[in-house]
Amino acid sequence: MRTVAVIGAGQMGSGISQQVAQCGIKVLLADIDVALAEKAKANIDKALTRLVGREKLTPAEAEAALARITPVGDYASFTEADLIIEAATEKEEVKRKIFEAAGKVLREDAIMASNTSSIPITRMATSSPDPKRFIGLHFFNPVPVMGLIEVIPGLATSAETVARTRAFAESLGKQVVQAEDEPGFVVNRILLPMINEAVFVLGQGTANIADIDKGCRLGLNHPMGPLELADFVGLDTCLDIVKVLYNTTGDSKYRPAPLLVKYVEAGWLGRKTGRGFYDYSGDTPQPTR
Ligand code: CAA
Ligand code: NAD
Repeated sequence: MRTVAVIGAGQMGSGISQQVAQCGIKVLLADIDVALAEKAKANIDKALTRLVGREKLTPAEAEAALARITPVGDYASFTEADLIIEAATEKEEVKRKIFEAAGKVLREDAIMASNTSSIPITRMATSSPDPKRFIGLHFFNPVPVMGLIEVIPGLATSAETVARTRAFAESLGKQVVQAEDEPGFVVNRILLPMINEAVFVLGQGTANIADIDKGCRLGLNHPMGPLELADFVGLDTCLDIVKVLYNTTGDSKYRPAPLLVKYVEAGWLGRKTGRGFYDYSGDTPQPTR
């Protein structure tokens, strides 16, 4: 791949763009408007500068990676792209509109991929111009650090698309797990019920936020407790994933924890809004319960 287009310049779109650019590939980065893509590029600049500070990159490598990223205000230049990766908000209707619009400029030899955490690939492929060239490409957060990418073929995805996508994922220095197009694929099918259960435990007053997270950090050796991790992922994204699990399986074990719903309704979405289960306004995050 020589050029990759990324749609959605939030935390995942930024991380994907950074990783792709660090691997020598040109990135066209779009969001709802060009200002958001420019803001993402400024954040990527800061992340690259931190890596230079830790002597993980030379200043010249950081500068070259940043120069490979071009914020764009529309999809016209995506005719250049060998791969389009959608990394917008976890809402099916938002993603479908993107596939329809980007599908108009998708080259006949290019692949369209979604970084969805949970929405069925086969279903979304029907909004793309060619379901044979549509696939799930699920990165993990923070993208430059995490070693895994899930590759999820839909029912109509061709073997050639799978092979090219796997080769691309490996070229980013990641390992691949290929999953069937089942709700939550592999990792989120396991992770999100844990996060949701942690919110039930909090809601039922079994323990406070700090102790639930401490329990899982020390008792399970997880780098973050489930509530910290939920804040890191984004509580809106967590709720959207749990709802997909619940609605697509109809299994009551996936019902969203009422407190998770309340936090999202309050606009307390985690780190990205400065408050979730923790308050991020001070020097160190403070549990809110
Ligand atoms: N770019 C490159 N490197 C970065 C980086 C970035 N943007 N951010 C952090 N790093 C690197 C740092 O350079 C550092 O590297 P060294 O240790 O080699 O110096 C390393 O990552 C650790 O960074 P920090 O010391 O700043 O932070 P930390 O030790 O507290 O670790 C963490 C932070 C990596 C996020 C760790 O807490 C962690 O692994 N948490 C769990 C993350 C997780 O579970 N992610 C999956 C979420 S679920 C998902 O993604 C799927 C979904 O669909 C919801
Ligand atoms: P985010 O809220 O940080 O960013 C979403 C971005 O999408 C925002 O910048 C928003 O402006 C943009 N957007 C919304 N509608 C758009 C549109 N019509 N066109 C272009 N851009 C649009 O969310 P995120 O955490 O980056 O998640 C993005 C996707 O990645 C979701 O599908 C999510 O499920 C998935 N994902 C998230 C994580 C995670 O840990 N947060 C991990 C893996 C996958």
